[in-house]
Amino acid sequence: MTYVVTENCIKCKYMDCVEVCPVDCFYEGENMLVIHPDECIDCGVCEPECPAEAIKADSEDGLEKWLELNAKYASDWPNITEKKDPPADAKDFDGKPDKFEKYFSAEPGQ
Ligand code: SF4
Ligand code: F3S
Repeated sequence: MTYVVTENCIKCKYMDCVEVCPVDCFYEGENMLVIHPDECIDCGVCEPECPAEAIKADSEDGLEKWLELNAKYASDWPNITEKKDPPADAKDFDGKPDKFEKYFSAEPGQ
């Protein structure tokens, strides 16, 4: 089992999650983060910290796509351990539909 970052992180990217992870297993893309499934120890502390409610336990139904995406990009993107400034328009994108199709970026974070 692991926790995964899901669609609503895209373009919200609040990064409160990285501050609490005891094993620093978040990785940063241009407009979302992912969790490395092999490094996550399933402690669950990040889940309630996400203002966008984008972090889910992979035991929930329908998260296969997101588990795959987290695993893939955790290998490609740089590790992030400290919160940065979220995007200025993060709130405008909270809850928007079809964020993956419209906005997902495979580019790494800075
Ligand atoms: Fe880190 Fe725990 Fe969240 Fe896994 S569940 S990403 S170990 S804070
Ligand atoms: Fe994304 Fe939520 Fe973390 S929006 S960056 S998973 S706090």
